[in-house]
Amino acid sequence: MSIKSVVIVCLVAMIPFAVSGQTIKPGRIWKDNRGIHINAHGGCVISHGGKYYWYGEHKSDDTSSAMVGVTCYSSENLVDWTYEGVALPVSDEAGHDIERGCILERPKVVYNEATRRFVMWFHLELKGRGYADARYGVAVSDSPVGPFRFIRSGRVNPGLWPMDMSQADRDVADALDLGKYTEWWTPAWRDAIVKGLFVKRDMRAHDGLPAGQMARDMTIYVDSDGRAYHIYSSEDNLTIQVAELTDDYTAHTGKYVRVAPGDMNEAPAIFKKDGKYWMITSGCTGWDPNEARMFSADNIWGPWLQHPNPCVGPKAEKTFGGQGTYVLHVGNSYIFMADVWRPEYPSDARYIWLPIEFDKGSPVIRWKTEWAPGNM
Ligand code: DGJ
Repeated sequence: MSIKSVVIVCLVAMIPFAVSGQTIKPGRIWKDNRGIHINAHGGCVISHGGKYYWYGEHKSDDTSSAMVGVTCYSSENLVDWTYEGVALPVSDEAGHDIERGCILERPKVVYNEATRRFVMWFHLELKGRGYADARYGVAVSDSPVGPFRFIRSGRVNPGLWPMDMSQADRDVADALDLGKYTEWWTPAWRDAIVKGLFVKRDMRAHDGLPAGQMARDMTIYVDSDGRAYHIYSSEDNLTIQVAELTDDYTAHTGKYVRVAPGDMNEAPAIFKKDGKYWMITSGCTGWDPNEARMFSADNIWGPWLQHPNPCVGPKAEKTFGGQGTYVLHVGNSYIFMADVWRPEYPSDARYIWLPIEFDKGSPVIRWKTEWAPGNM
């Protein structure tokens, strides 16, 4: 290839970013076209029809509960965002799954090429029940900006064992007596968790909760072959699970595996680079930041191998004060998106977006006070 062709190829690869001289300033107020701080937390960004769409939780000034719904913004350069409104509004119907005042977190939207529909998944807790229900919610729309139509909420794959537990593993889990493990954090309790104590507990309805695996912090990943996966914090936030979705992306197929059983990971964000899957998670410390964790796998079903924290720079041991939510893959670039939570003033939560660099193939997230997506 001539030098001229190389230059042209590089310029074309950068087109999505090259149109703006504007910069991203992690952790600072980020104003939309109306001059208002963007209100789309725990979210994701998709690229569709030449535009980017950013979806996230609308946060109120004084509560982290969902009083409005999932907001949507659009952009052509990832820096300047236009408010597109509420893509999935909460309901005013008493007892509705997404009744105003429920907890609706970490919405993720994917486009299904076959149905030509946008499918939104999110973590849902029914109104007035704290975090007890641990459900997924799903909604669909014909347009990227909505309105999304709520379809269903529930727990994952009721009655089914994960694929990565053999018949022998299932027999061991089946023999565990939940009543013997009332005290948490003992070595025996942890061993039982790893062996599937809570997997087995949640396969059937119990304590007024429906059958199925718990699903809290989550993301959706569409693989290069078009298959989609729901990746979520399960088993009382002790274990990540990866569950395959149906062709239309609106339900689970029944196939799922466990990742890092008993290790307490949440906030999963996943991407693939050169055939390798990477997953960045956090520990479980509520709204407080903690050290990011990273895993890789050659197959989405595992095995997943843990690596050191990919963050580098001030407060790297606290994910720069944030908690991951998504990795945006555009062209040859990957952007790590995180939230800096402000539980005492939720709408003032901030965003940390940083480019992912690769050192000998391994992701590195280096702190930057300001950067231009055009200069990645
Ligand atoms: C951490 C999670 O990542 C957030 O989405 C939220 O659920 C908070 N915990 C609640 O404490």
